[in-house]
Amino acid sequence: MSDPTSDPTTAPDLPPASPDEKSLYTEGQLALIRRLERDLDARMAAVNPRRLAHSLSVATTAESLAVTYGVDPFLARVSGILHDWDKVVPAGELIGRARDLGVDLGVDFELVEPLLHGIVAARELPALYPELPAEVFRAIERHTTADADMSPLDMVVFVADGIEPLRRGTIGIQETRDLVGNAPLDEVFWKSFTGGITYVVATGRYLYPGTIDVYNKLVLRRSAR
Ligand SMILES: [Fe+2]
Ligand SMILES: [Fe+2]
Repeated sequence: MSDPTSDPTTAPDLPPASPDEKSLYTEGQLALIRRLERDLDARMAAVNPRRLAHSLSVATTAESLAVTYGVDPFLARVSGILHDWDKVVPAGELIGRARDLGVDLGVDFELVEPLLHGIVAARELPALYPELPAEVFRAIERHTTADADMSPLDMVVFVADGIEPLRRGTIGIQETRDLVGNAPLDEVFWKSFTGGITYVVATGRYLYPGTIDVYNKLVLRRSAR
């Protein structure tokens, strides 16, 4: 077995790049993927190993969806790795950061705290990773709020978050998984997005008005087709 440290794309403490990765990415892209994985590991492994596993699973699921739907797999993979970067920040601190950043969702932050980690991360990560393009940070922001104008990358990351294999498969999640490769990406996203709303309603949680707005805009657009 060769010395893994001799491969610049491979971190000593992470598995070597799979053949798939070697065909999908340049050495520079693989080196950045490994660096992001190491950074995420350092941030999450001790405090929330399940969140770390989920994030890495979203990343490879997003990569696979990207290949299926003709989206840039590198952008999908790195967005997936980083999408829950701020999910390990305590709620009170996250709300404080959102306030400091001037985020305004039109409702008390306490009501929509589960949405804030994507929005805050999207505003803080560009300084940490200036080599990544704006599309990545937009996809990270939209993985919690969605948007009426989701790009294919936004949809890939949103769906991957909802269906990654470590997530327990409710009927709605399984229905979304079954659509992958059998329906256009915007239909897979629609299933995942509305499944999320159904879950919020079924479990009696607060539904962010911005989500209703996105839902209505998408309904009108779909009925006009
Ligand atoms: Fe998230
Ligand atoms: Fe997530």
